Amino acid sequence: MYKHKVLITEQEIARRVEEIAGEMNKQYGEKTLDMVCVLKGATIFMSDLIRKLQMPVRIHFVQVSTYGTGSESSGTVSLHFSTAADLLDRDVVLIEDILDTGITLDYLLKHLKEKKPRSIQVCVLLDKPTKRKVNLQPHFRGFEIPDEFVIGYGLDYQELGRNLRFIAALDPSEYKP
Ligand code: PRP
Repeated sequence: MYKHKVLITEQEIARRVEEIAGEMNKQYGEKTLDMVCVLKGATIFMSDLIRKLQMPVRIHFVQVSTYGTGSESSGTVSLHFSTAADLLDRDVVLIEDILDTGITLDYLLKHLKEKKPRSIQVCVLLDKPTKRKVNLQPHFRGFEIPDEFVIGYGLDYQELGRNLRFIAALDPSEYKP
């Protein structure tokens, strides 16, 4: 595995996921929720979160393509895949692993709002506010993190590292020559 430094432990993640689920249970009560998971990074987070929710939950998946390379978002987003067809009058929560520039979420929110849900809120596990280009505040947020390249708990570097049980900062020697 890549050289890394643990930033958030498995126990800290589990505790925070429980707290976020508690906030959602309080806010939504018995309302059925439609969770829209952004592939691939948010899959682990969503899987843990929805099992702590008390209301009926539907799940959907979307995947976007961003053009560009490396660890920087290019700014051009297009929808690659979606199972979120019918969201009319639904209470929707869009689930992301990381909010960075905000470009991806901004695009997805606009796309999903066209489906006329009753409500739509954003839930992100990690927030890197220093990188923001679009003014976006998540309604539910796990942790604020510094501007480091992170892997684990769904997040990858070159498609590996998603199955780590914790969140770690990738050692810069792994991606800097
Ligand atoms: C990551 C993350 C968000 C996006 C955030 O996806 O899951 O979708 O980047 O960046 P932004 O706020 O700057 O738009 P990635 O392209 O790494 O895809 P993956 O989840 O499949 O690894």
